[in-house]
Amino acid sequence: MWVPCGCTSKNVITFFSRRILRSYLHVSGRRRCNVAAWMPEAAGFEGVLDRAGLQDFSVTNIESFWAVVARQRLSWISPFHTAQDCDLSRGQIRWFEGGKLNVSVNCLDRHVHTCPERVALIWERDEPGSEVKVTYSQLLEMTCRLGNLLRRHGVKKGDTVTIYMPPCPLAVASMLACARIGAAHNVVFAGFSAEALAERIRDAQSNTVITVNQGVRGGKVTELKKTVDAAVQGCPTVQQVFVAMRTENPVVMTARDVAMEEEMLKEDVVCEPTAMDSEDVLFLLYTSGSTGKPKGLVHTQAGYLLYAALTHRYVFSYHDGDVFGCVADIGWITGHSYSVYGPLANGGTTVLFESTPIYPDPGRYWETVQRLKINQFYGAPTAIRLLLKYGDQWVHKYDRSTLKTLGSVGEPINTEAWEWYHRVVGDGRCPVVDTWWQTETGGICIAPRPSDPDAEIVPGMAMRPFFGIKPVLMDSKGKVVTSNDTSGALCIAQPWPGMARTIHNDHQRFIETYCQPNPGYFFTGDGAHRSKDGYYQITGRLDDVINVSGHRIGTAEIEDIVNQCSAVAESAVIGYSHPIKGQGVYTFVVLKTDTDIQEADVCPQLNNMVSKKIAKYACPDYIQFVQRLPKTRSGKIMRRVLRKVVERDLDELGDLSTLDDPAAVQEIIQGHRDLC
Ligand code: WT7
Repeated sequence: MWVPCGCTSKNVITFFSRRILRSYLHVSGRRRCNVAAWMPEAAGFEGVLDRAGLQDFSVTNIESFWAVVARQRLSWISPFHTAQDCDLSRGQIRWFEGGKLNVSVNCLDRHVHTCPERVALIWERDEPGSEVKVTYSQLLEMTCRLGNLLRRHGVKKGDTVTIYMPPCPLAVASMLACARIGAAHNVVFAGFSAEALAERIRDAQSNTVITVNQGVRGGKVTELKKTVDAAVQGCPTVQQVFVAMRTENPVVMTARDVAMEEEMLKEDVVCEPTAMDSEDVLFLLYTSGSTGKPKGLVHTQAGYLLYAALTHRYVFSYHDGDVFGCVADIGWITGHSYSVYGPLANGGTTVLFESTPIYPDPGRYWETVQRLKINQFYGAPTAIRLLLKYGDQWVHKYDRSTLKTLGSVGEPINTEAWEWYHRVVGDGRCPVVDTWWQTETGGICIAPRPSDPDAEIVPGMAMRPFFGIKPVLMDSKGKVVTSNDTSGALCIAQPWPGMARTIHNDHQRFIETYCQPNPGYFFTGDGAHRSKDGYYQITGRLDDVINVSGHRIGTAEIEDIVNQCSAVAESAVIGYSHPIKGQGVYTFVVLKTDTDIQEADVCPQLNNMVSKKIAKYACPDYIQFVQRLPKTRSGKIMRRVLRKVVERDLDELGDLSTLDDPAAVQEIIQGHRDLC
């Protein structure tokens, strides 16, 4: 049973910060700056008197802002000499150069010195009531043993370790063990198929995989080790697979497999951390783009960690002693930044959620909130929409008085879901923070700041940029739109420490995707509206990326698989509004003329192929067979028209004059009516 260790906010950070505050008051003799009580560094920023002033300072003096914060919030082995050396137009992003540090030391050792018995992780296992608490000293020990084990098996700086595990303490220890010995990690969502896993292992040229024998989620067991076995068959780089035991069921072990827990016990509990340069790689994380195969975004050490930590503390108003409940999977960036790195860098207590929102019943989240006394809850709109349908009684059943902040992430949250989250889940007392960001941004970029004295929150709006973030809207000609009450392509005008540095092995693609659309700006791929009050609302992707249940997927990736079916001539995948999933997958299929296969037989085949090659969530919701797709005379599929058809926006089909065969559109409209 965990007993709080009794240490309060007197960790290293606040200790140093108070010193600054005192010296500021002493030297300047000015009236106490109230913002400094909230963010102690603010005391050192000339002319900053309030939160608005702090925001202005952070974007007009990005270098001094981030340099001061980096010195205060991170423990350095040696100090950096240059706060930033960035040139967005060339895709060059470097922060805190010259500095050396170790991320695992920042997340573990420094808290073990002050509060060894504080709980770092609460592993909320699939079965309610079977949670496991892991203190900072226990997590450090696990990480060190694992770091030593990996080292003994030859893993070194420059290697990439693929982690295919559900959220659990050993998965976190694996990430931190990589960080400790200087290897990069590449966490692959444990819902991905063997082929999707293999593709990511190959692209990352990973030589080591860490997995568990089986996964347990929603009362169901999944054969993760078997999936890894199937994946690594096609991955010649893989030399070893470490297997942890999530269940008691033994699995077949081959010569390349290592029984992880057994071997960890033989290792020393002290593991010398490798001194890493600020810009060494911390991890790769694959995500979908509008074209081509998934891209391995690269995040580096100091800037990423600092940004995750600062956003975690200030967006959610996280205070020492709070229990932070981010229910995202560690396979996504949300899990990286807000289940692992942000909370641990802040010495927080973080929940690792293994289950689903409806297991064993739709009260699961709120029963967990009650039992673990969660203070900040961070989840996805798709789950909120699902739970809303089950009714308020599942929420009312449980005590949610510990909740202080409710977060939303991954997709736009519609007003109905926002209101329900606020009114029913939060009893109208907890601010809802709709947080906009991406795998590429490393951490939250636009979100309300409820702790601001004048903080207004408009339902469904991401509201305000975070410190150091300068959003701009671009018109279709690439000009910055300066007025309010206007929409455009969302870009970010200045670099920030948390942003991705490159795409693994493809810097050119990084430049083309993010830096070239609007030279000098970071192009997000999202559209946004800026209200008359200057607040931001994200309107959705501008490209062929869709968002299904908060999972990002390129329509081209699904088409690629559908087209591999021998009966299919061509296809087009479109996202459409789905009441629960946010977007659903609508697939137009043209069958080959010479095929004998019946349409009814093609559907299960396609579902099977997509779930086998990507994951279940990417499967088509609708398959409409058509004779031909609407194309321009030059042969390009007119997706805009298909999108309007599936959104039933037939008055807005737009200019059809470039269509090769206008009859194709009528046929599709009719077929769509029959199907839905
Ligand atoms: C895309 C990024 C953010 C971490 C999890 C997803 C969409 C994300 C919001 C939001 C509207 C949002 C965007 C973005 N998105 N948050 N609060 N409101 N849309 O990371 O898988 O990299 O997806 O998710 O379209 O580009 P990701």
